[in-house]
Amino acid sequence: MRDLLPPTVAVAVAGPTDWAGELLAAEAAGLGERAVLSRRQDFTAGRSCARRAMAALGLPAAPVPAAADRSPVWPAGLVGTITHTRGYCAAAVARATDVRSVGMDAERLRELKPGVRRLICRPEEERWCARLPAGVHWPLVLFSAKETVYKVWHPVVGSWLDFQDATVELDPDAGVFTARIAPARVAEATVADPPTVVTGRFVVEDDLVRTAAVLPLR
Ligand SMILES: CC(C)(COP(=O)(O)OP(=O)(O)OC[C@H]1O[C@@H](n2cnc3c(N)ncnc32)[C@H](O)[C@@H]1OP(=O)(O)O)[C@@H](O)C(=O)NCCC(=O)NCCS
Repeated sequence: MRDLLPPTVAVAVAGPTDWAGELLAAEAAGLGERAVLSRRQDFTAGRSCARRAMAALGLPAAPVPAAADRSPVWPAGLVGTITHTRGYCAAAVARATDVRSVGMDAERLRELKPGVRRLICRPEEERWCARLPAGVHWPLVLFSAKETVYKVWHPVVGSWLDFQDATVELDPDAGVFTARIAPARVAEATVADPPTVVTGRFVVEDDLVRTAAVLPLR
């Protein structure tokens, strides 16, 4: 993810020891006692990466508990994001004085089933995907970009955003995506200056799609 985010954002990608690391007490509470092993490993790797990213910013290890809606609660003055998918996990953290919000998402390459694809893609996005170079399942890239958009949007605005609420254009040459948020969702937002456009980066390589975006300061 380092390649997709500006230098003010610290990024850590999980290595072999992160999946079995220790959780801080405040974090373990958010996981719950009945979590299955794979969920425990993913959650642990995310927190381990988050702490390493904080250390890269010169900050002490602080817990990142989970809110009731499962969103991560970053220490005061920080913004951050976590993603995990089969065998891959990363966290990114930045000072709130450097960026307003950060999001990222990773997905293992796969074809989305037609029903899922219809939920994710707007008709115009389907048309754009059909015109992009063959060999990449572009709807999956859109899916990942939209999850990144949600991770950028939700900590700032606090409201739900459906997959149909963002229209995403992909520029495969530049590896850039541009997401336009539905004007109705922007109008409903109760924060000052809600984001209307989220610009991010993406890469498709090996078995993985990765997307990331920051929301600049206002
Ligand atoms: C929250 C969501 C985006 C997570 O994506 P995912 O592909 O399921 O899973 P990932 O591994 O990439 O990300 C999971 C991490 O996201 C973070 N997360 C969860 N809810 C979040 C929220 N509301 N805001 C920001 N981050 C959130 C958590 O850190 C979580 O990891 P953890 O539980 O170990 O702490 C997804 O589950 C979801 O609810 N999507 C629907 C909303 C959406 O994407 N709309 C599209 C708008 S255009």
